Amino acid sequence: MGKFQVIDHPLIQHKLTIIRDKNCGTKVFREVVNEIAMLMAYEVSRDMPLEDVEIETPITVSTQKTLSGKKVAIVPILRAGIGMVDGILELIPAAKVGHIGLFRDEETLEPNEYFFKMPEDIDSRQLFIVDPMLATGGSAIMAIDSLKKRGASNMKFVCLVAAPEGVKALQDAHPDVDIYTAALDDHLNEQGYIVPGLGDAGDRLFGTK
Ligand code: PRP
Ligand code: URA
Repeated sequence: MGKFQVIDHPLIQHKLTIIRDKNCGTKVFREVVNEIAMLMAYEVSRDMPLEDVEIETPITVSTQKTLSGKKVAIVPILRAGIGMVDGILELIPAAKVGHIGLFRDEETLEPNEYFFKMPEDIDSRQLFIVDPMLATGGSAIMAIDSLKKRGASNMKFVCLVAAPEGVKALQDAHPDVDIYTAALDDHLNEQGYIVPGLGDAGDRLFGTK
């Protein structure tokens, strides 16, 4: 079974409270989502491989560590995942970005794929799939199904708020994928929203409702 980690650093908890508040407007919501994503990237990238490199300091020749050639791609699930990309790029600026477009049918809650564009070498990259919300898990499962069909094998899923139902569904469907979240909430309501959650992440990021 992959790792499941709640990254509950005090700074992250504080920032999450800001965006959960229904009075938080689009501008602040957008900024803080990126800030949380950046802080999470610090932990999500903890096991990035290092290699030795010989350098010359002003004092002597010395062997030090550098990130090895393992390449990263960030994969936002559209739309809301876009809100996390710039924050992660702050820490990993050379990462490529692939996009996968999914929307949930509001009645059936089933995800539908409408867009897929990845870097050509996703089979040799470490992928960070990002989406603020893991609710039923349907979108994350479909995104990872799609990526696996195209050859991806090394994936981590990163969200801000997860429901227990979604975590279980994703672990059952893709036990090889590590899951990182900033919070594990109580449950899903009848409309498939996370409780207490933060509402519709896409609408709050883009001001569409
Ligand atoms: C939201 C969210 C996730 C999905 C989570 O997207 O950003 O992608 O719902 O729900 P699930 O775990 O039950 O699949 P939505 O479909 O509303 O699309 P949007 O980002 O375009 O608003
Ligand atoms: N998608 C969202 O944007 N919010 C939820 O609470 C559930 C799914």
